[in-house]
Amino acid sequence: MINNKISEIIKARKSVFPSQFNGKEIEKNTILELLKNANTAPTHKLTQPWFFKVFSKSSKTSLAKELIKQNKLIQNTQKEDKLHLKFQKSSHIICICMRRDKTKSIPEWEEIAATAMAVQNIWLSCVDSNIGGYWSTPKGIEKLNKFLNLKKNEKCLGFFYIGIYELIKKRKLPRKNIETDTEWLD
Ligand SMILES: Cc1cc2nc3c(=O)[nH]c(=O)nc-3n(C[C@H](O)[C@H](O)[C@H](O)COP(=O)(O)O)c2cc1C
Repeated sequence: MINNKISEIIKARKSVFPSQFNGKEIEKNTILELLKNANTAPTHKLTQPWFFKVFSKSSKTSLAKELIKQNKLIQNTQKEDKLHLKFQKSSHIICICMRRDKTKSIPEWEEIAATAMAVQNIWLSCVDSNIGGYWSTPKGIEKLNKFLNLKKNEKCLGFFYIGIYELIKKRKLPRKNIETDTEWLD
């Protein structure tokens, strides 16, 4: 038998979008706890390819400005304001980064998969708290490499927006029927 509590946590995980955040700041120690949980994700040869750049306070604005600049949204006030609001409502924005080992002994997809598992740990850690988050892969993310000081063997795989929310509208997303999409080979 599997642990019911774990099934409940997995099923309760959900995306909470910045429009639902109240703009309050989460303590740095709490963010660190989330990252420590991320850090327990499994990896082939224990390469631990994930690393994070955490933006808060004024650095969030710099990141938003850079995204606007790189995506040439400067002339689009509506889009610009929407993005700034998204950043303001978030407490922290975690840039999800992945570093391949120098010898490239592990295929890139495995390192990306391992990094995604680390993100899932963050997401699961938010269950049953008033901390919400969601993974976004903004257009032109690779154009941020210089701003993020990434080296040749490093990539940013998206942003994890984190914030505090009070009430949330129930969302029921359809999930496919895994029984019909599983082949049992006894
Ligand atoms: C790798 C990855 C990238 C994602 N990128 C985006 C994105 O760019 N924009 C977005 O609105 N949602 C993005 N999402 C969030 C998904 O839309 C969300 O997880 C999905 O709708 C299921 O909802 P749930 O997380 O509440 O179960 C991403 C999720 C993952 C795992």
